[in-house]
Amino acid sequence: MRKPFVAGNWKMNKTIAEARDLITKMSAELRVISDVEKVLCPPFMSLMDAFKLLEGSGIGLGAQNMHWEEKGAFTGEVSPAMVKELCGYVILGHSERRAYFGETDEIVNRKLISAQSIDLTPIVCVGETLDQYESKLTREVVSKQTSLSLRDVSPTFAPRIVVAYEPVWAIGTGKASNGEEANAVVKDVIRPALAELFGNETSQAIRVLYGGSVTSSNATEFFGQPDIDGALVGGASLKIDEFAAITKAAAQ
Ligand code: PGA
Repeated sequence: MRKPFVAGNWKMNKTIAEARDLITKMSAELRVISDVEKVLCPPFMSLMDAFKLLEGSGIGLGAQNMHWEEKGAFTGEVSPAMVKELCGYVILGHSERRAYFGETDEIVNRKLISAQSIDLTPIVCVGETLDQYESKLTREVVSKQTSLSLRDVSPTFAPRIVVAYEPVWAIGTGKASNGEEANAVVKDVIRPALAELFGNETSQAIRVLYGGSVTSSNATEFFGQPDIDGALVGGASLKIDEFAAITKAAAQ
């Protein structure tokens, strides 16, 4: 049985003061929801406050990115050890990182190997663009991203990885995929790619999330699918009632 998983990716939203307020209120709502792994991913600037505010809440904390090197002359970057001091999770290879910051599968893989070495739970994102979707390249693209981004991971660490299938055309557009279509990609593309890397048993143990315009109104459509184990939520994770409702739906 794969435990349901819901993560809120705040992206570049909320100042330190705003984040403090939102985390306090969000935590009160989320801490009473059980049977689901809950993670908040605020901006780097708010991780320290979030760490303190979430202590003992049962709500996990994640970073939205990190560098793969241990330390050194990488101006503006944050190292795995710095993330690890405050977080249990890290989002890797989000499509916005891939599109605007040149992250390739190779870079995502380096970061994943670093997460493994420091024992951070990675949430690795894959998904096709609108062009690729319209050209019917979804399967090819997602399979390749999964295989390359997750290569060379140890079989013992592999079950810890969380994969997020996020069609790029569904992110922040209000145009979510539909449950069956997303489930088919997870079942027929992502799990077979994971099986190729780690064997069938591990492929069945890895949590795979859907992401892209998830709201409280469509969440159950995705969570009802046999191969989808939760959601990576962007916009709706900034709204207390919405995110709490999505988290509750995942728990059921
Ligand atoms: P969205 O973002 O829920 O706002 O579409 C999802 C994500 O980017 O992880």
